[in-house]
Amino acid sequence: MSIPSPRKLFVTTALPYANGAFHIGHIMEYIQADIWVRFQRMQGNEVNFVGADDAHGAPIMIAAEKANVTPQQFVANIAAGRKQYLDGFHIAFDNWHSTDGEENHELSREIYRRLRDDAGLITTKTVEQFYDPVKEMFLPDRYIKGECPKCGAKDQYGDSCEVCSAVYAATELIHPYSTLTGATPVRKSSEHYFFRLSDPKCGAFLREWALDPKRLQPEVANKAREWLEGDNGLGDWDISRDAPYFGIEIPDAPGKYFYVWLDAPIGYLASLKNYFNKTGRDYDAFMADPDTEQYHFIGKDITYFHTLFWPAMLHFAGLKTPNNVFVHGFITVSGEKMSKSRGTGISPLRYLEIGMNPEWLRYYIAAKLSAKVEDVDFNPDDFVARVNSDLIGKYINIASRAAGFIAKRFDGRVATGWATTSDPFLFRLRDAAETIGTLYENREYGKALRAVMEEADAVNAYVDANKPWELAKDPAKEAALQEVCSRLLEAFRIMTIYLKPVLPELARQVEALLNIEALAWGDVDRPLPDGHRVNAYTHLMTRVDPKMLDRLFDVPETAGAPAAAVAPVTNGAAAAGAAPAQSDIEAIAPEIQIGDFSKVDLRIAKIVACEAVEGSDKLLRLTLDAGEGRLRNVFSGIKSSYQPEQLVGKLTVLVANLAPRKMKFGISEGMVLAASAADEKANPGIYILNPWPGAQPGMRVS
Ligand code: MSP
Ligand code: ZN
Repeated sequence: MSIPSPRKLFVTTALPYANGAFHIGHIMEYIQADIWVRFQRMQGNEVNFVGADDAHGAPIMIAAEKANVTPQQFVANIAAGRKQYLDGFHIAFDNWHSTDGEENHELSREIYRRLRDDAGLITTKTVEQFYDPVKEMFLPDRYIKGECPKCGAKDQYGDSCEVCSAVYAATELIHPYSTLTGATPVRKSSEHYFFRLSDPKCGAFLREWALDPKRLQPEVANKAREWLEGDNGLGDWDISRDAPYFGIEIPDAPGKYFYVWLDAPIGYLASLKNYFNKTGRDYDAFMADPDTEQYHFIGKDITYFHTLFWPAMLHFAGLKTPNNVFVHGFITVSGEKMSKSRGTGISPLRYLEIGMNPEWLRYYIAAKLSAKVEDVDFNPDDFVARVNSDLIGKYINIASRAAGFIAKRFDGRVATGWATTSDPFLFRLRDAAETIGTLYENREYGKALRAVMEEADAVNAYVDANKPWELAKDPAKEAALQEVCSRLLEAFRIMTIYLKPVLPELARQVEALLNIEALAWGDVDRPLPDGHRVNAYTHLMTRVDPKMLDRLFDVPETAGAPAAAVAPVTNGAAAAGAAPAQSDIEAIAPEIQIGDFSKVDLRIAKIVACEAVEGSDKLLRLTLDAGEGRLRNVFSGIKSSYQPEQLVGKLTVLVANLAPRKMKFGISEGMVLAASAADEKANPGIYILNPWPGAQPGMRVS
């Protein structure tokens, strides 16, 4: 076999906005990329796999301001929460950086200068926009609301109407107001910088790059064709924003910043450069090498930026263009789209916290992924079935059936004298390596796993035909038992190679069990040596308990309730079937009328950021979105019960009309509801309220 020279790969995933914790959509993207990266590494290829936080832009600036911290501090807090997700789901980035890092400032300015001076593709135009005279800033559309110009519906956003679906410009809204201050915005002109994509040389290059039949996925290429060959062609791209803005200042343009989408993809290069600098490698040489291959994994919503703007920026700045952009669909949960503000019913952290195995999710997502831009549905019943019947039932069980006999009866020694290249049992298994490898390479993970499970079916048929448990009863069949079990362990070893990109931790356990070095793809052809000693079987992976999915979806556990209801009543005191009276609950407050209660305006609020308050051992600072189009800063004495990262992305209940209160650390604009025991010594916990799924920020609780 000729040994192909290793490929040199540079791989990224989209850079997540640093204004919230990871949601399951991010994790899905990372799993997809991570599987591909691990597959490439198993081939002996060099992979440099990097990510970063997308730190810039108006929303992050505003969120930071509301939280009373600098934007730098705000994004640092978000960044601090990333590791537990990445480690938790075995996502093996080589580096994680930030688009606010110094490398990105430098690279962005350099690329801009080249586009301006070498390519002549930067121009300026005067743009009229809404401006908030109180806040003294230009307003992005999302911070403007007003009445729909078509149907008159109130409180519609600056770009489209949720009632009649009309699409319009913010300046067309009737009675517009700034959601930041409530002020009526005024029209104001300012000079903006543009990337002249309308220049024919841009269209010409992009047609060549994006429409190369060997490049984009067919659906993506079709989109690109529409964009490139549409009636209007490409328009110039507005790449500047006026101060105040959290971003990178444009060279020679005081008070002007790059629009976040200009410097965000450059963050890919910045993270790679940061990684190379840290590890003493030559970034420039790597990127100048024509053999270096560059791939970006992204979701379908950001295709435009990655297949048009990004390659054009790179090309006209004289840099390497991506070899490809791999676009995936969105994850839905039980068929429902997740909204950016609401997240989904699945919180990745909760998944880990309740003890679900991250490799179940990796396996399930992989089983549903293809190279198409299709949405992937997380369906709880399907999840349980695929993990339990395929992963455990077909694959793990092979090891559990064979390894015990080898350990107990043969001192852990395998007999593999039969393992020659002409052995038909082995031939079939080994022969699948190429097909399965090609499927991984082409991101057809669902098909790859199906091919592995077909092998598992064949191996299980072998188990049923040879019945090791029967052989074990007959002392005359010792040798047969050892051979059958050795074949099964060899089959298991090969299948583990095929599954290792998806199940890295499990593969590590299998390597320990089989007492072998880390498995690479080429090890398919290298069977366990005859007489090799394996370790005693330890449990590799448990089945999913379907009850876990109830907990994952936040359905309160009701398991105890029916049992209590039918429990024999042995004592009159418990006859009512109610919970036993607790003597230590706080006395109920004096009666009020409904009118008294309705004075209290309780709202569902989303915790968009959360951090410890320096100098206080009780307080957490919460940044809450109660659907008002602005964020609130609220202090809450819950530090003893929660890690700040745990709360980010969760919904809770806010007393929304409580007078703002000035505290030592800032102003608290409301209060979140939390439960605590009367007897703090007996139960010192503080438990904040969390609504059932479906509640949305801003809904009134009554
Ligand atoms: N900051 C930009 C990307 C800049 S890349 C130079 C951004 N961030 S994001 O946090 O909104 O999204 C990050 C990635 O997650 C994107 O690829 C996006 O498509 C993906 N997903 C967001 N929601 C998703 C699902 N529901 N399902 C799968 N992926 C999803 O966009
Ligand atoms: Zn309307």
